[in-house]
Amino acid sequence: MNILITGSNGFLGSYLSNYLSKWHNVISLVRSRKDISIHNDNVQYIICDLRNKELLMNKLDKIDLDVVIHLAAITKNRINSSFNENIVITKNLLDCIKDKKIKQFVYTSTCGVYGDVDLNKVKEPIDEDYQCYPNYDYTISKFRCEKILKNYANQYSFNYTTLRLSVIYDMKTCPFSELLNFVKSTKIIPLINSGKNYIQPISISDVKRVFRLIVNNSESFNETFNLSGPKPIRFVNLIRLMENELGLKRYKINIPLKFALFILGLSGLVELLGFKTIFNKDKLKRVCENSYYNTSKIEDLLNIKMESPNEGIRNIIRNS
Ligand SMILES: NC(=O)c1ccc[n+]([C@@H]2O[C@H](COP(=O)([O-])OP(=O)(O)OC[C@H]3O[C@@H](n4cnc5c(N)ncnc54)[C@H](OP(=O)(O)O)[C@@H]3O)[C@@H](O)[C@H]2O)c1
Repeated sequence: MNILITGSNGFLGSYLSNYLSKWHNVISLVRSRKDISIHNDNVQYIICDLRNKELLMNKLDKIDLDVVIHLAAITKNRINSSFNENIVITKNLLDCIKDKKIKQFVYTSTCGVYGDVDLNKVKEPIDEDYQCYPNYDYTISKFRCEKILKNYANQYSFNYTTLRLSVIYDMKTCPFSELLNFVKSTKIIPLINSGKNYIQPISISDVKRVFRLIVNNSESFNETFNLSGPKPIRFVNLIRLMENELGLKRYKINIPLKFALFILGLSGLVELLGFKTIFNKDKLKRVCENSYYNTSKIEDLLNIKMESPNEGIRNIIRNS
């Protein structure tokens, strides 16, 4: 199977390019071969910026493709308007592959398209039919790309699969390893709203497994799936889990969200004066949102069970 993976220099792309190349002929689209260490001899590379449609058309012209996995996206940026690029690059890619008679286009969206889950109203984990209320430029751009993909797939008769991912963790990189280092090195842990919000992270090994099973799987065609850990965990409990595993006890202080936002408002003023700050209001609000997703659709289809975050954290700590 010839698989094109966009965004292969990124966090998920570097994992998937290497992993799927064990079974498939992987063609990785990157903007530059900047980090040579993540590249693999079994993988063919195309160097192209997806904003350049003409170049993209040329690069893909003579390549036969069966499956396209579209990961490339602006995922973090200080300027919200740059998330519009997600729409531009997705449309460009769709324009260049629409006549290629591909079997499947896999799109990585985000569970963030549902917006903040109000746990006073939502009693059951939310499934894929739940109304979407994306509330940040990033999540709005991802949701719009979902819709654009559906329209192209209908109009040009190819199959799509949309995966709505929650935050992914692995052994080495952020966000869990950063949190772990923080718990190791800091005696006092500040927790926004006492860390009561729920998160539902998914391990990279589960994500890789799902991609392997979903590629060219006709039962996944023209469907949307939540792809998150099996159950939510309160942020403060994640910290406690880390403390237990590390044999440490940390003092926790509560920082009300409103107060944190006020402080960030001040840092916004600091930015206006030309200085850089590491966090912004949107990021802070996103970190405090609740996750409560139902993963049974994908688990039932592929006959798998996702790894619990407790197990994942233990693995990270034992391997760190
Ligand atoms: N990681 C998560 O927890 C998570 C959760 C939910 C959804 N997702 C989705 O999963 C996908 C992959 O996420 P990730 O964490 O791997 O993101 P990432 O590390 O930020 O990687 C994104 C990649 O897209 C590439 N890209 C951006 N604009 C491009 C352009 N114009 N042309 C070519 N390449 C371009 C970037 O290239 P450069 O390296 O050259 O900048 C980067 O390598 C994204 O679509 C994201 O929205 C991820």
